[in-house]
Amino acid sequence: MPTTYDKVAYPSVLFKRTHPERLAVVATLHGLTPPPLETARVLEIACGEGLNLLALAAAYPQARFEGFDLAASAIARGEALRAAAGLDNVTLAARDILEASQPIAPGSFDYIVAHGVYAWVPEPVRAGIMALIGHALAPHGVALVSYNALPGGYFRLAMRDMLLHAVDGITDPDAKIEAARALLQELADRDSRGHVTLELIREFSAEILNHHERVLFHDELGEVYAPQSLSQVVAAAKQAGLNYLGDSEHSRIEQDFLEAGEDGANVDDGGDPQRAILRKAQSLDYRDACLFRMSLFVRNEARPSRTLDPDRLGPLWISTVMTYDEEADEFLGGTTKHLNLEDAEMKAIFHRIVAASPGRLPVADLILDTQRRRMFLKLFMAGHVDLHTTPAPFALEVGAQPRTSPLVRAEIAGEHPRLSRLDHWQLSIDQAHLRALLAAADGQRTVAEIARAVDGVFPADEIVPALNAAARKALMLA
Ligand SMILES: C[S@@+](CC[C@H](N)C(=O)[O-])C[C@H]1O[C@@H](n2cnc3c(N)ncnc32)[C@H](O)[C@@H]1O
Repeated sequence: MPTTYDKVAYPSVLFKRTHPERLAVVATLHGLTPPPLETARVLEIACGEGLNLLALAAAYPQARFEGFDLAASAIARGEALRAAAGLDNVTLAARDILEASQPIAPGSFDYIVAHGVYAWVPEPVRAGIMALIGHALAPHGVALVSYNALPGGYFRLAMRDMLLHAVDGITDPDAKIEAARALLQELADRDSRGHVTLELIREFSAEILNHHERVLFHDELGEVYAPQSLSQVVAAAKQAGLNYLGDSEHSRIEQDFLEAGEDGANVDDGGDPQRAILRKAQSLDYRDACLFRMSLFVRNEARPSRTLDPDRLGPLWISTVMTYDEEADEFLGGTTKHLNLEDAEMKAIFHRIVAASPGRLPVADLILDTQRRRMFLKLFMAGHVDLHTTPAPFALEVGAQPRTSPLVRAEIAGEHPRLSRLDHWQLSIDQAHLRALLAAADGQRTVAEIARAVDGVFPADEIVPALNAAARKALMLA
């Protein structure tokens, strides 16, 4: 039977924070040894069209990916893109969470991702998600469950009540979206100065208006909306034999470690660091009116360390998306991030990371002392750098037979406006001649043959520089 997700398609997006690499990095920081990504077996629960998995499959051809979703039309679109890209290391299936464990052997997935589903399904399905993870997660595996969290979710519940009231009796999806947006616009435009609650509603309304309208249809107006507290989710995971590891969001990673003097023995937790961590994280959620969480879980037997040791960065690679602004003598990331480093050695290291971008440098060779590793860990938590468990799975310069990611070539053939980079970001390229060039670089043709294929569309002498620029956007494979 078609679901609401068949009637109104949910937009497909790449989520960096659900990348198995992030799961592996957090596990490594906790002293665990997660399975190598290059050969990992990855499962995504309720994957929608499966774009997340397709992008991973293009970057890690030796790894295996499986995804399923109840919406058969979403799976069909994903399958069409998979076939067009020729990605034979990924399988997508139309399946219900409650029946999904049957064909899966116990412990057969190293990484499991359930993003954007847990808080939008009824309780038996939520229990089904945890049971499936408990069944399918490998001994050293890591799983991610994201959900709208409490107490922030109470505010969203108030917004939802208002919106459901405004769309009451409307059945046509477009008309529903229109009525909801009209109310949000009115609330966002209202002068709420001096009135704390109305100001909050104004800000929430403006934020929801920024979402894709089909996201609004499902996330705010969907049949089920059940935000969860961290404690509730951790208790449900426990039932399934899973233990809380931490959060995949940069800014929360530090919360999941105990400071010196803050260890479990010093608080009323019977000396149990795990309980101390959960108590602390839940308190912070209340304090910060937490709205969303991306909780990570490991098997009950795993014993994550709760002491932050900067030397655990040793086996990792580091990268940044920041650039250097010479005039201001600072590093910039988009419009919001500015980084001014006082320490000359830190600055020199950061320059090397920027110069290598989007490539990655091995921490072991680059950041030698523990003190500076600690400082880079702070930069990771602030989102200024990223950490990885593998070198870049893409080329930074093209060779004799340049090869665009097969997924990107299929996206170009399907006229998708956004292209999936091999570092899991998305990129819009409008210029038809550049798209034609990327499509022609199929790994079979030499540069001269590519020149003939795009003759009259792309100047021959600009082909290699343009493909090298594409490589610097993580679009090319080695
Ligand atoms: C909000 S969407 C998120 C999709 C995708 N994970 C993402 O983050 O873009 C929720 C997804 O859960 C799927 N879903 C809901 N109930 C399900 C069930 N019982 N079994 C499998 N998938 C389900 C829907 O079809 C939909 O694709």
